[in-house]
Amino acid sequence: MRIAKIFLMALIVSPLMGSTADKVHQSKLLQYDKQIDGIISQMTLEEKVEMLHAKFMFVSAGNERLGIADVKYADGPFGIREEMQPKGWAGLGWETDKATFFPTGSALAATWSPELAYQYGTGMAREARLRGKDMILGPAINIQRIPTGGRTYEYLSEDPFLSSRLAVGYTNGVQENGAAVCLKHFALNNQENNRGTVNAIIGERAMREIYFPPFRAAVEEADAFGAMSAYNKVNGFWCAENEILLNKILRQEWGFAGMVISDWGGTHSTVGSVKAGLNVEMPSKQYLGQALIDSVKAGKVSEEIVNLRVREILRVRLAIKAIPEKEANKEMTSQPAQQKIAYDVASKSIVLLKNEGVLPLQLKNKPIIAVIGANATQIMASGGMGAGVKTLYEVTPLEGLKNRIGDKAEIIFAKGYEPVKFSWGRKTPEQLEKEKQEKELVANELIKEALEMAAKANVVLFIGGDNRSVETEGSDRKDIFLPSGQDELIRKIAAVNPNIVTVLTSGAPNDLNVVKPLSKALLISWFNGTEGGNALADVLIGNISPSGRLPFTIPVKLEDSPAYALGNYPQGIKKADVFAKLVAETETVDKPKDEASKSNDPNTANYSEESLVGYRWFDTKNVKVMYPFGYGLTYSTFEYSGLKTNKEKYGKDDVISISIVLKNTGKVAADEVAQVYVHRINPSEEWPQKELKAFSRIPINPGESKTVILEIPVKNLQYWNGKKHAWDDDLCKIEVEVGASAGDIKLKKELTLK
Ligand code: GLC
Repeated sequence: MRIAKIFLMALIVSPLMGSTADKVHQSKLLQYDKQIDGIISQMTLEEKVEMLHAKFMFVSAGNERLGIADVKYADGPFGIREEMQPKGWAGLGWETDKATFFPTGSALAATWSPELAYQYGTGMAREARLRGKDMILGPAINIQRIPTGGRTYEYLSEDPFLSSRLAVGYTNGVQENGAAVCLKHFALNNQENNRGTVNAIIGERAMREIYFPPFRAAVEEADAFGAMSAYNKVNGFWCAENEILLNKILRQEWGFAGMVISDWGGTHSTVGSVKAGLNVEMPSKQYLGQALIDSVKAGKVSEEIVNLRVREILRVRLAIKAIPEKEANKEMTSQPAQQKIAYDVASKSIVLLKNEGVLPLQLKNKPIIAVIGANATQIMASGGMGAGVKTLYEVTPLEGLKNRIGDKAEIIFAKGYEPVKFSWGRKTPEQLEKEKQEKELVANELIKEALEMAAKANVVLFIGGDNRSVETEGSDRKDIFLPSGQDELIRKIAAVNPNIVTVLTSGAPNDLNVVKPLSKALLISWFNGTEGGNALADVLIGNISPSGRLPFTIPVKLEDSPAYALGNYPQGIKKADVFAKLVAETETVDKPKDEASKSNDPNTANYSEESLVGYRWFDTKNVKVMYPFGYGLTYSTFEYSGLKTNKEKYGKDDVISISIVLKNTGKVAADEVAQVYVHRINPSEEWPQKELKAFSRIPINPGESKTVILEIPVKNLQYWNGKKHAWDDDLCKIEVEVGASAGDIKLKKELTLK
């Protein structure tokens, strides 16, 4: 019996989150203000205003006369976008601007690793600098409020604490390697339907406790230099001219000292924007160009305000070294060091949901493996508008398998279904009918071929899921069912060969009611970047154990998720019966009618679920889920024991230190992600059933034990007091719950906040 070795893990400190920071965060950008005084004093009003709007599609002006370089931006959050035309949405077709495609947001979040997020940011910054770019238009850190959100795959998590830890890691990685981030989209851009007109109606507490934390953490803990105002309105005001968001909260409360750029086409006024704190109108100059000069001359806005907006831009400009055109693009954007980072993230992101002893794949006597599904050969880098990456290469699942076991197994492939393709423009009914008939013909052919392959294989590897046309900026999915008739196909495959391993390469939740029972193993492998196929193959054959954990809940059915259950989303669907009933019943009282009218106005997003987003909803309302937040299996098993805390009672300035012993009771090395949730026992305020407040990913060899320390500053347990408009303490009995997911609590302990 190997003697279990006890190693003391490094302190896992979860920094202050809820604190009303007595001292406002002091940005290092403030160090340039003296120098900036001198620059501004030499500038004319025209020269200053020249800096406040786009010069080209992804460039805003500096000042040539004074030697201030232009600011160069690059999409997107997971790969430096190809070189674009100065005034258009097309690329220039270069050869050297092929970038590393990093795993998308939800994949990074599935690693539950702030350290990998730091590496990720480092990789993004290196490639941005190679291209001479100053500011990366990322990370995209809105909370995943709806499973169908077109950009849920781009964002990180449904949980603010997990999102915050990763946003800090990414931001530090980018800014410690010479580029600036642009936190987007500030704020409450949680849906793509009507994103340019929708008005998010939300209470202060949910905004503060759920939607703001990732932005606040990236500013206060990682000194983010940039932010992008979102397209939508928040409580009636466009984000790009929202005094409360941009000046009061972002700048005055959080200490943000950098620059706010509008989303592309998201500016709506001259005086309102520049006063509220918008620095740069992108990609136009309709509002912050001549109109602003005229407004200053007409006395509608003071030149002092213009000076302040210029100052905030110059701080970033002086902090980020300008790279002259002739020094940029000297070599291929994508470099091996970054490809390695992409692999590391991908290999730690893959979530094993189910495994009935069929994984790792057994390769003795060279089995026939039927790889079925267009997602096995689908390139996931391009698509999704701004988040598309012209990548140097992308290893697809089929290529990854051939790379790793092409000589150890007979791999046969069948497409199985036609993937959804993005199609522009409208079609006539005749065209649609003709297309439908053609599609049916093709589909039947593809199914027939797939079933022939399945019948002669030892194991079927079904690779399905969404793609970048299904999940994309600009539109939300209508449902979460697997597209392209995949459910029907897997039913047919199971009839000829029940030995199915299913891999879904999706970025957001799918409906698993059909694939789960028919699959002996089930994994999510995300839109997983340049090295995604190699990482997937390594997991399937056991070179590494899977270790990803769900960054969002997978509901049994879409209608169970909060915004749907409450009728808050989709908006603009006239629920004739519900609406009429509500109106009929509420002739006298106006609130419900008002509520009903809201849920039927396509431009009103009613966040009446408040803080009950994701697992907060399912756990508080006791709604069964398909797979809980934080869930993921490995090829090993872990035992939790020895929960201890440094004290029993804690004051509001204390730090709760939790120690547990984790033992790898299996046969292979694997990473466990220990999660700590806090449940309030006798609070004076209303709270979700529990909330994630600390976590740690720990690699442990078989038979080994490790002691893990997790810390929760009591300040992180504050709530936003809507009456005081400030953070406040709800000192009560709490229960710290340590577990492997929100649905698998292993150890609990009652503590007292006094
Ligand atoms: C898009 C996106 C934003 C992107 C910008 C520039 O509309 O909302 O995320 O960075 O425009 O492409």
